Amino acid sequence: MTIPTLPFGKLPKKSSELMERARNVTPGGVHSPVRSFKGLHRAPIFFERASGAYLHDVEGNSYIDFCMSFGPLILGHADPSVGKELENALHRGWSYGAAEPYSLQLAEYIIERIPFVEQIRFVNSGTEAVMTAIRLARGFSGREKIVKFNGCYHGHMDAMLIKAGSGVTALAEASSKGIPQGVAKDTLVLELDDIAGVQELFSKHGKEIAAVIVEPLPANNGLLVQREEFLQELRTLTKQSGALLIFDEVISGFRVAFGGMSELLSITPDLVTYGKIIGGGMPVGAVAGRREIMEQLAPVGSVYQAGTLSANPLAMVAGMATLQTLNNNFYATLEKSSQTIAQLFQSYFSHHKSDAFKHLQVHCFQSLFWITPRCEGPIRAISKIPSTLSSSFAELFKVFLEKGIYLAPNAYEVGFVSSAHDESVISELQQKLTP
Ligand SMILES: Cc1ncc(COP(=O)(O)O)c(C=O)c1O
Repeated sequence: MTIPTLPFGKLPKKSSELMERARNVTPGGVHSPVRSFKGLHRAPIFFERASGAYLHDVEGNSYIDFCMSFGPLILGHADPSVGKELENALHRGWSYGAAEPYSLQLAEYIIERIPFVEQIRFVNSGTEAVMTAIRLARGFSGREKIVKFNGCYHGHMDAMLIKAGSGVTALAEASSKGIPQGVAKDTLVLELDDIAGVQELFSKHGKEIAAVIVEPLPANNGLLVQREEFLQELRTLTKQSGALLIFDEVISGFRVAFGGMSELLSITPDLVTYGKIIGGGMPVGAVAGRREIMEQLAPVGSVYQAGTLSANPLAMVAGMATLQTLNNNFYATLEKSSQTIAQLFQSYFSHHKSDAFKHLQVHCFQSLFWITPRCEGPIRAISKIPSTLSSSFAELFKVFLEKGIYLAPNAYEVGFVSSAHDESVISELQQKLTP
């Protein structure tokens, strides 16, 4: 198949020149900060095409991609079955701003398969999903305080860009300029894996807490796999105090199992937020949960939420085509290839002549992986992340790029494996990693 090139006009075909122009018209040259390659001592690469497990840059180089658009592309880039549905949908028009059957089909498909999801509302991003879930939790409970954890990312809404302050437990401060103190004071920040800290907070402030939000598989500050007891304790304490438990499964939803971490651990949150895979690579997010909570949303209830492009028909069919391929066999195969890939990386590091690489360790959970300097025991909280992480990553990123392997351009980002990372891609990877 010949792939039509974009009408680039007179744009240069060199990443460095494109970046120079981009910086002039966009802050930092990018539309999301992590794309800027900050700390990596080189300009970002401009990609013009992607298919299967590969990204192709404007200069004609190809890379095996382990960033996968930061997670949505569980079937790989430009999956033909998703592409076909998108082509069909294009002929039907790409936005109606009115009721349509495509979101209904996707909603019913999800509700049939995730027992605690009784209703779902589609939005346009993970951030929007979290924003809606927080407002819904406050509207439902009549309380204002939200508990979150250091090391979890929930998008860029004001109430979530809050980090732990120094000294006093849970007293928080904004992690970005532009966030009013009045917003920051209602977000309480705790450490992951600290059951005693959560118990103490609930014993003092339990009745003021509207919701606890957590990534049940924290995968935005590295891969901080939590103990099941910790998440169970969050469920118990929230239930006892009348607070809601929100699982942010924007990454883990449909990735570690169809029903995400809540299915794997059999823990039922009150609300869940989805994004990424649920839209098959198109811009979508969703908030979902029990009917009595969801029906607080307008137009039934008085918690307001809306969106011009929400449940966009292209995104709905891309999501549906993606979710329909996800079954137990799919996940078993994906996990197997992920383990093989992680082993290939680990063996490459262990046999490397440079000490910097010899001491790297690959952490793998299902189809997610994270590379860190070797450390004792599992890393469950940000305080346990080795301090040399970023400096070791810059060299690794560069060496991998030269080999045609693309990792997400930041030490704290995880890697994603897709079903397009099949046997032939794995054997190519093996060749690339053979000294
Ligand atoms: C767990 C989690 N929640 C929320 C978000 C925000 O999603 P979006 O970038 O679509 O706004 C992300 C994005 O990476 C995420 O990983």
